[in-house]
Amino acid sequence: MTDSGPKFKTFKLLKLILSGVLVTVSLLFAIASIRTLSLDVNVGLQLARWEKTNNISLVVSQQQREELLDNFKEAIRIPTVSFSKDESNTTALREFDRFLRKAFPTVFSSDLVRHELVANYSHLFWVRGSQPDLVPYLLLAHIDVVPASESDGWDAPPFSAEEIDGFIYGRGTIDDKGSLVGILQALEYLLMKGYAPRRGFYISLGHDEEVSGTKGAMNIVRVLKQRGVRLLFVLDEGLAVLDGVISGLEGPAALIGLSEKGWATVKLSVFMAPGHSSMPPSETSIGILAAAVKRLEDNPMPRLFGHGPEKGTFEHLAHKFGLPMKFIMSNLWLFAPLLGRVLERKPETNAFVRTTTAVTMFNAGVKVNIMPSLAEAYVNLRIHSAQSLQEVLDLVQSTVGDQRVKVELIDGFDPLPVSSMDDKSFGFQIIKKTVLEMFPTVTVAPGICIGNTDSRHFKDLTDDIYRFAPVWFKPGDAQRFHGINERISKKNYEELLVFYFSLIQNCDILKLPEPHSTIHEL
Ligand SMILES: *[C@@H]1O[C@H](CO)[C@@H](O)[C@H](O)[C@H]1NC(C)=O
Ligand SMILES: *[C@@H]1O[C@H](CO)[C@@H](O)[C@H](O)[C@H]1NC(C)=O
Ligand SMILES: *[C@@H]1O[C@H](CO)[C@@H](O)[C@H](O)[C@H]1NC(C)=O
Ligand SMILES: [Zn+2]
Repeated sequence: MTDSGPKFKTFKLLKLILSGVLVTVSLLFAIASIRTLSLDVNVGLQLARWEKTNNISLVVSQQQREELLDNFKEAIRIPTVSFSKDESNTTALREFDRFLRKAFPTVFSSDLVRHELVANYSHLFWVRGSQPDLVPYLLLAHIDVVPASESDGWDAPPFSAEEIDGFIYGRGTIDDKGSLVGILQALEYLLMKGYAPRRGFYISLGHDEEVSGTKGAMNIVRVLKQRGVRLLFVLDEGLAVLDGVISGLEGPAALIGLSEKGWATVKLSVFMAPGHSSMPPSETSIGILAAAVKRLEDNPMPRLFGHGPEKGTFEHLAHKFGLPMKFIMSNLWLFAPLLGRVLERKPETNAFVRTTTAVTMFNAGVKVNIMPSLAEAYVNLRIHSAQSLQEVLDLVQSTVGDQRVKVELIDGFDPLPVSSMDDKSFGFQIIKKTVLEMFPTVTVAPGICIGNTDSRHFKDLTDDIYRFAPVWFKPGDAQRFHGINERISKKNYEELLVFYFSLIQNCDILKLPEPHSTIHEL
């Protein structure tokens, strides 16, 4: 994932919400049209009705268990750091290439697999299916990691893969080498056991995701486009299994990211005739720009809570809360505006309520006695699903409201389309089924990513992009993400492997079971 982790802190303020809404709730209990919407995904799935294709089970010997953990640790020890868009550790990227070939010999030698290097360091695998008429899917992960320094206070050196209390420590353990090595290890074992997929699939491993994927993922997409490839769905990292992170929620929740917020970097600049500070004009470039920036901060983008996929998250989790939260979350048609007002009070939850506005750079002046002719500021906006890049730019322009302030878009993109999650949605249902087979007590719900991943580059190849891996996040784990002491338990790494092992086989079903209503009006 490109951005650090406030997305995982989303709901920890739900408790706080209660205080504000209790009074309103009691008033509204009288309203006739009250409904308790129960979207119980676990009941609706009916696992028994599915064609059974996952008939190879993963039984590993003690020796294999050590080997698979060694493979993972070796991947962590290679410092595949992206320092900036133009600077990565290419020595490490080449070493990673050698590691992959050595660790997964069956993948690299199988007749079913075609491997190619893209942009020198990214890897694309095509695993041929026995039924070419079945639309393929794509599993996505990335090789690179953000920098890490032991002096930041790690309990174990960040590229050591040292074990402490059953956890493997190191940069990349969750973001994203757990998924990457898990996918290839799963394929290695499947092929060793003689598995041949019915449905073909791709594995795409980009090498510059942390610095926006313009070399790796974008070139892989170009290659696939040239070949006319269409994908049934794409599965990338993003959200996780939240366990005890959402206060008031009974049991763990697997959030599957259906979309990502959009992005805009806007430059504001004011140009004035330079002058001497002994005879200053009444307004300076700095003053004009500062006032514009202040107007942007004083006038946040509109509150849109309930108009994007965050609505589905609340509705799907509602039945796992006690009253009155259950009631409030099931009736967002009524409570969304109120809930939005409560959520906007904290930065972590405000991110779900609106397009956020962050002034990140402000530059002007070179000398104490010279009026600077130029003042510049950069504003980074993360666009809510219910708004477009253009709408946000228009609002920035009108809020600034001063012709002397030039507003320029440096880079940006619209929020990503919202992927499907209904009964007919192959990718979503397969991911959900695979999660529930492994973790029957987990509640599966849709979610939205605040940060961006490589998956956005694939949006022309598929309608459905999902962002999820069954990494278990407990309280405090969000800070490890792009932070210090990134780690994963050995057990959880093995679960990642089992997840992909089972997901690949689950994708071999010809079609989903007939739709079955999951909404029960009580
Ligand atoms: C496993 O499932 C596939 C369908 O994907 C089927 O063709 C194959 O015969 C099954 N193998 C066994 C051993 O049951
Ligand atoms: C780059 O990676 C190599 C290992 O492949 C390592 O020896 C070297 O120290 C790394 N360079 C930097 C600047 O991190
Ligand atoms: C791959 O490496 C070659 C030779 O070092 C270089 O000329 C080329 O620009 C690289 N391609 C990409 C996409 O980075
Ligand atoms: Zn990542």
